[in-house]
Amino acid sequence: MKNAISLNELDFSSPIETIINQNTIPPKFKGCSFDNYIPNKDYPSQKQAKERLIELVQQIETFKRKTPKNKLLRKLIKTSKPPHIYLDGVFGVGKTHLLASIGNAYRGKKLFISFSELMYLIAYYTLLDVVDMLSQYDIVLLDEFEVDDPGDAMMGINFIREINKTDTVVIATSNTLPSQLGARKLDMLTFKARMGSLINSFETIIIDGEDYRFKQPSLNFSISNSNLKEIFGKYQPKEKLKLYVNFEELIEKLKEIHPTRYRNIAYSLDALFIENLRPFNDMELMDALRFTYLIDMLYYGDVNIFASSNIDNIWNLFHQDLKEGKFKTKIGRCLSRLEEKCVLVKPD
Ligand SMILES: Nc1ncnc2c1ncn2[C@@H]1O[C@H](COP(=O)(O)OP(=O)(O)O)[C@@H](O)[C@H]1O
Ligand SMILES: [Mg+2]
Repeated sequence: MKNAISLNELDFSSPIETIINQNTIPPKFKGCSFDNYIPNKDYPSQKQAKERLIELVQQIETFKRKTPKNKLLRKLIKTSKPPHIYLDGVFGVGKTHLLASIGNAYRGKKLFISFSELMYLIAYYTLLDVVDMLSQYDIVLLDEFEVDDPGDAMMGINFIREINKTDTVVIATSNTLPSQLGARKLDMLTFKARMGSLINSFETIIIDGEDYRFKQPSLNFSISNSNLKEIFGKYQPKEKLKLYVNFEELIEKLKEIHPTRYRNIAYSLDALFIENLRPFNDMELMDALRFTYLIDMLYYGDVNIFASSNIDNIWNLFHQDLKEGKFKTKIGRCLSRLEEKCVLVKPD
């Protein structure tokens, strides 16, 4: 059976809407449930959050059951729509785990979508078209609402304003990084200030705690003396495929295809092998952003990443100006995800 694919063999021809129609809980979070979310006793807010969200699922089920579809009947039978939720907390406390648990527990129509994905969709269609498409779902699970980029934050808020007119409930998570620990309160204030009166339709849940992530060895053989080609040769994908690609070739491909299609790369693969990964300089912001977006998708797809590179530490992948610039959250998140999922080897 074929277990490897090349970049040019990947199919990018599916219509963009399929990314909404097929948007289920990402592979990495498929197995997440309220049952396997184990609250840390030292942080009571974790247990409270879990209990509140279990209750919310029931509230939404009741709301959907009792709300008549017929417009006339709706005027007679008034039901109150459950609040939207903003799940805030530092990195790795299980926000996305809880978000996926809601999706897995809710039996009706739900959509899991990342905030970046939503932004790309709005840029591709229009805001109202996207609202129209998403309002077919009872729940929109919106991962990583970004408040640091004012343009995106405004677009996100406009989206909320429009979807708030429908029966859809939005459950959003924040994307605070460890380096921004102190800034969490500020994030919350920024979010509230930007939301204006819309904040009243939101309930905020703050989850305290420590990063739950731990490094899981993804390889079952030693890699210390291997080169990338050798690792690629030995690697046995579990279900999906493996892809070997040169870094420059990958960057070119990312330029050619719309970012909403990066999911096609991520969801087809079990492992990605990048030859000659090299740092992004300060002139390469657009390439760097496309790459961070690919990494976001690979992370959701639970794809293992192996790269040959002369950099000894993944943190040197981006020029300092990129790491400290306007997109520092995206870049920080990318580095943290690479740290979890990427194995670096020396080039030949
Ligand atoms: N309380 C918990 N019980 C079980 N698994 C957890 C818990 N908190 C986090 N995890 C796991 O740790 C990893 C990181 O959690 P995640 O939900 O991605 O964090 P966040 O979205 O807050 O950054 C995931 O694999 C998740 O399943
Ligand atoms: Mg998350």
